[in-house]
Amino acid sequence: MLPLSRSQLGLFFILLCPANIIGLWWAVGSPLVMDPNSICRKTKRLAGKQNELCQSEPEIVNEVAKGAKLGVRECQYQFRSRRWNCTSHNKYFGKILQQDIRETAFVYAITAAGVIHAVTQACSMGELLQCGCEVTRNWGPPSPLAIGPGADGSAWEWGGCGDDVEFGYEKSRQFMDAKRKKGKSDIRTLIDLHNNEAGRLAVKNYMRTECKCHGLSGSCTLRTCWKKMPHFREVGDRLLERFNGAFKVMGGNDGKTIIPVGHNIKPPDKQDLIYSAESPDFCQANRKTGSPGTRGRVCNSTALDVGGCDLLCCGRGQREETVVVEENCLCRFHWCCVVQCKKCNVKKELSVCL
Ligand SMILES: *[C@@H]1O[C@H](CO)[C@@H](O)[C@H](O)[C@H]1NC(C)=O
Ligand SMILES: *[C@@H]1O[C@H](CO)[C@@H](O)[C@H](O)[C@H]1NC(C)=O
Repeated sequence: MLPLSRSQLGLFFILLCPANIIGLWWAVGSPLVMDPNSICRKTKRLAGKQNELCQSEPEIVNEVAKGAKLGVRECQYQFRSRRWNCTSHNKYFGKILQQDIRETAFVYAITAAGVIHAVTQACSMGELLQCGCEVTRNWGPPSPLAIGPGADGSAWEWGGCGDDVEFGYEKSRQFMDAKRKKGKSDIRTLIDLHNNEAGRLAVKNYMRTECKCHGLSGSCTLRTCWKKMPHFREVGDRLLERFNGAFKVMGGNDGKTIIPVGHNIKPPDKQDLIYSAESPDFCQANRKTGSPGTRGRVCNSTALDVGGCDLLCCGRGQREETVVVEENCLCRFHWCCVVQCKKCNVKKELSVCL
């Protein structure tokens, strides 16, 4: 018998499980988040619509997978100094996706956002046959701010290559919102779908306008303007804000609606992240909750907020460690235009959680 990696073992587990167990485990969109590269292989017998897309539009599936990875990378950046750092180790990540805590909400949202972003980007770059730049629409005039100073009275038009966010939006919906069982809507599914949409809107609702000047020697007699997606870092920042202000909800009696928990609380809007269960503290390793714990994490002994040793090490304390890292040094600029550096070994003091 060949040795199997963990992800292969996971695949075996899925194939051997009776359908109802898979149904529980396999929430909306989670195969994509867990393992973007093998989405088509894995979902072959699981999601009808996804399978269809795997067959008919493999190049788009490729972009979808890239987008899911973009999302997870951004998640790891945004959470880099928190107790839960969005580690995508399967043993823990899968558990996070099975719950309905804030972290689950963030992962779904950022993944859905990554997919709309990557697909749209590919369209604009001309990498897909099915889509391209946005056909100019009947938008109102761009804001004076976008056009630039001194633009009063000068002519402008929509043109250039705008990002066709609608196409990416549709693809993100088809992949992330694919349901296994038709008509079966439990609260968890509703929450996941809401957070997927919140992620997509963090891209779609924040399109920016770019303009370019035309005319003799930059005289700017005519400006061409187009719509671009926000940078993905900005999308991550915005979703982190939504994470911090996430709404706790519960299922209504009819099993089809979500209601906010607490008195006099305004209901969440479409761009808010929602969750239904409190997060664990993520201090100790716990496979059941998907927490890898914070032992061995590098912390900042002078910071008092996130990333500070007190918070990150959960009061257990830290030890100081000296590590040797290789860094660029003695850099010199050579005309023109290269910078050459030497490699130096630098000693660094690190604090590491006990
Ligand atoms: C995230 O946390 C895990 C588990 O504590 C750790 O192994 C990993 O190095 C951390 N990643 C980063 C980027 O700090
Ligand atoms: C540690 O935190 C302090 C205070 O917030 C900050 O100035 C410093 O840059 C941090 N150090 C590292 C290595 O992040």
